[in-house]
Amino acid sequence: MTPHSTTSRPKIGIILSTTRQARFADRPAKWVQDIAAARGDADYEIVDLRDYPLPFFEAVGSPRFVPNTNAVAIRFARKLEELDGYIFVTAEYNHTLPGVLSNALSYVFNEMEHKPAAFVGYGTVGASRAVEHLRMLVVELSMVPTRFAVHINMEPFKAMLMEGKDFGDYPYLAPTVTAMLDELSWYTRVLKDGREVAADEAVAA
Ligand SMILES: Cc1cc2nc3c(=O)[nH]c(=O)nc-3n(C[C@H](O)[C@H](O)[C@H](O)COP(=O)(O)O)c2cc1C
Repeated sequence: MTPHSTTSRPKIGIILSTTRQARFADRPAKWVQDIAAARGDADYEIVDLRDYPLPFFEAVGSPRFVPNTNAVAIRFARKLEELDGYIFVTAEYNHTLPGVLSNALSYVFNEMEHKPAAFVGYGTVGASRAVEHLRMLVVELSMVPTRFAVHINMEPFKAMLMEGKDFGDYPYLAPTVTAMLDELSWYTRVLKDGREVAADEAVAA
């Protein structure tokens, strides 16, 4: 079988975890998108849950077995299906991931299967608890979580929120994005090839 990853450019989604009016989420998402876009190794697009106002999940079963009927959920699932990998930019609410993201991920399964997930956390402890919980969650969706993550901890987070500082004031953070993206890029290529080879084999069988 010939590897496929050289034939089409991978697409990576940068998924925001919060939707509240005064959220901080847009700043780290844009910062990561700018660093990522400069690499030229994939197309990186923001996936904003505000654009997918999903109701509380009340379907009769898991989307693994029961297809979505909600129109927004169908649109959300199609968007995730288009993508070859994901970067979750997450806050930490009550020591875990925000409910709006957890709810959204209840609507998908097959669309994210065998794809990689990376993480950017912000908050008092860089959302490290939310990121750890997300790592477990994405494994249940048959995704591959990266080891490297970006954690924007208390000092830069508060200074950006309240003292007019920006990412440029914390130059040690950008290399952590690069390390995460290097790993994500490797998994994206490998898993994309694997999915495409498996699809070829299924057709040939
Ligand atoms: C309901 C709620 C719970 C929170 N719990 C935590 C927490 O457990 N750990 C933490 O570091 N920050 C916590 N925070 C503070 C958030 O880190 C901070 O508000 C951050 O800006 C939230 O992300 P957002 O602005 O994108 O909504 C909490 C905030 C809210 C609104």
